[in-house]
Amino acid sequence: MIEIRNAKTVGGRRIDVSIESDQKWVIQADAWTLFPALIDPHVHFRVPGASHKEDWTTGAKAAIAGGVTMVFDMPNNHPPCTTLERMEEKIGLIERELKTIPLRYGLYLGADRSSLKEIPRVKKKAIGLKIYMGSSTGGLLMDDRASLEEAFQLAAENDLLVAVHAEDEQLIQLHRKKYADRTDAATHSLVRNATVAAKAVELAIDLAKRHKAKLYIVHTSTREELSLIRQAKKEGISVFAEAAPHHLFLNESDYEWLGTKALVNPPLRTARDNEALWEAIDDETIDTVGTDHAPHTLEEKMQPYGKAPSGFPAIELYFPLLLNAAREGKLSLERIVSLTHTRPLEIFGLPSNDDVVLVDLEKQKTIDDTCLHTKVQWSPYAGRTVIGWPVMTIMKGHVYEVDKL
Ligand code: DOR
Ligand code: ZN
Repeated sequence: MIEIRNAKTVGGRRIDVSIESDQKWVIQADAWTLFPALIDPHVHFRVPGASHKEDWTTGAKAAIAGGVTMVFDMPNNHPPCTTLERMEEKIGLIERELKTIPLRYGLYLGADRSSLKEIPRVKKKAIGLKIYMGSSTGGLLMDDRASLEEAFQLAAENDLLVAVHAEDEQLIQLHRKKYADRTDAATHSLVRNATVAAKAVELAIDLAKRHKAKLYIVHTSTREELSLIRQAKKEGISVFAEAAPHHLFLNESDYEWLGTKALVNPPLRTARDNEALWEAIDDETIDTVGTDHAPHTLEEKMQPYGKAPSGFPAIELYFPLLLNAAREGKLSLERIVSLTHTRPLEIFGLPSNDDVVLVDLEKQKTIDDTCLHTKVQWSPYAGRTVIGWPVMTIMKGHVYEVDKL
């Protein structure tokens, strides 16, 4: 049995909590605040095919260090996870790696024109269907109208959530030609501008409405997308929105010092878009925060624009960044719980569990590349001093002391 004594709740009360376990622990938690463990609905743990960037052992450690005990992994692997057989193989690989760290996880099925027939086959195994309406890392792309109609129809019939990477591929290609002579990293935000995202979000909402599918829009990043989603929610359409930490805590001004390290899809936006996201967190247009934890090695990221891949590691830092934002008055602790725990459970239709995380809301630490658990050992947030850090994560009756991971 694990006994947590005198922890503060997010609402400020004091409580004792007992958690079933083979281990015996008494945790005197006077100085700490108890949160339900976080659920990250959007990670890329890179297995199979790119385990030099991350694997499930390093990914799980990074997750636990960040107070996360459940992740939903994306299908853009090598080979992509587009069939029941590939999903079963992927589960086999993950289970082998998670023998000593029992992280909870769900897997998305990747949408591919040729494998939409897999939807009924995987409906019990997959957490959702992931559609790349615009191209990103890996070869998954499904942007033709007929396949999109069919995918939304099949997903609705089989009660499978549709998660979309909403960027319009035709516009991206058009802008690539337009800006072909530019070589600076900031070009990325012009090529994949706000219209690219809004156009795809508009189509995704229309598809969800007509086919009565449950739509989850990952990494929403612009004021324009949020207006469309706000309106769709008012109309009663089943649409949910995720925000990624880099669209809250970074913006286009960061190209100057991060260069190609700042590349991500969708790209960094303006400070005005940062504000729009905070407003949307406030009025609940945004439902969840998903990290889009997408590690690439520093060597890969330092290549010239056009070659360097897009994406950041983030899973062990987004909770401290959110806690620090709460301290600055940007959102409440209760809202953090909703974004990182309650809404993911509700949207993905999962039962709750008794995983918790104990947080020292006064702990101050400067983010440093060398103290990270992700395999790639770098962060776009390095150098920031953040107040509020997880100290203990309790997952499936195991106690993990963050300092000892
Ligand atoms: O920046 C990104 N990186 N966006 C994506 O859509 C994919 C991800 C990755 O897997 O690297
Ligand atoms: Zn992603």
